[in-house]
Amino acid sequence: MVIGAGNLATHLALALHRKGVNVIQILNRSRLAGEKLARRVKAGYHADFSAADFKADLFLLAVSDTAIEDVAKSLGLKDQLLVHTSGSVDMAVLSKASSNIGVFYPLQTFSKNKRINFGSIPLCIEANTHENEEKLLQLAKLISKKTRVLDSPQRKVLHMTAVFAGNFSNFMYTIAEDLLKKHGIPFSLLKPLILQTAAAARHEDVFSGQTGPAIRGDARIMDEHLEMLAKHGVYMEIYDLISKSIIKHKNRND
Ligand SMILES: NC(=O)c1ccc[n+]([C@@H]2O[C@H](COP(=O)([O-])OP(=O)(O)OC[C@H]3O[C@@H](n4cnc5c(N)ncnc54)[C@H](OP(=O)(O)O)[C@@H]3O)[C@@H](O)[C@H]2O)c1
Repeated sequence: MVIGAGNLATHLALALHRKGVNVIQILNRSRLAGEKLARRVKAGYHADFSAADFKADLFLLAVSDTAIEDVAKSLGLKDQLLVHTSGSVDMAVLSKASSNIGVFYPLQTFSKNKRINFGSIPLCIEANTHENEEKLLQLAKLISKKTRVLDSPQRKVLHMTAVFAGNFSNFMYTIAEDLLKKHGIPFSLLKPLILQTAAAARHEDVFSGQTGPAIRGDARIMDEHLEMLAKHGVYMEIYDLISKSIIKHKNRND
């Protein structure tokens, strides 16, 4: 049973369906999205959360973080295994909705229209009993080669670091693209560098691969860059702050 029909619910339901898991029902507030997903995984559909089919072995809640607690309660469960899929929400928010609870959190960014290979996505599991943990691990291993048990505080740290590694990196590319555009230079020139940097980060101790003026302590280049950025206010502040952080980090490790 999958509750939700958004980005993650769609990918999860499809990945499970492809592995032969019988998704018996999709519950979703909006009919159009819910019915569409239900058709794709050959499941029943209902818009009313209190119409959940209690025959399901697992209730997989993939609704927006702010809706998790209320939607969970509205399912009217007692002891059925209920999990949410969020990186930043405590497992305990489900405790009023069922006595068997857990988390099934895939560390990746999902968009309905982008194909994704679930096999390589880390799936982070948490459960309130050893038995539930085993059930969730078994299911996770069906669709992913990378499963991991993390408790709520650990998962929240992981989620926070994903903001640095994923979201912030992307915004750095955005700044570069914006500045290049203003000077009529194609962003594609940076792509080999971006790909090589990401590839190098596959190894442990990523800071040992740090390059650039800050790690070299090249004050002349940094000053020149800051001057060039003077009319781009916030970009200059970001450049300055990150350069100072790199220097501090280097000195800490020396
Ligand atoms: N997308 C990702 O990259 C990603 C990655 C890892 C984990 N997650 C987690 O997955 C969960 C779903 O995220 P998503 O990105 O798939 O969200 P999404 O695409 O925005 O879809 C949100 C889903 O929640 C439902 N919903 C929202 N507010 C609701 C409410 N008040 N009552 C009932 N249903 C409500 C929506 O129903 P309607 O169709 O009716 O609007 C929709 O099915 C979140 O916990 C998120 O943290 C997401």
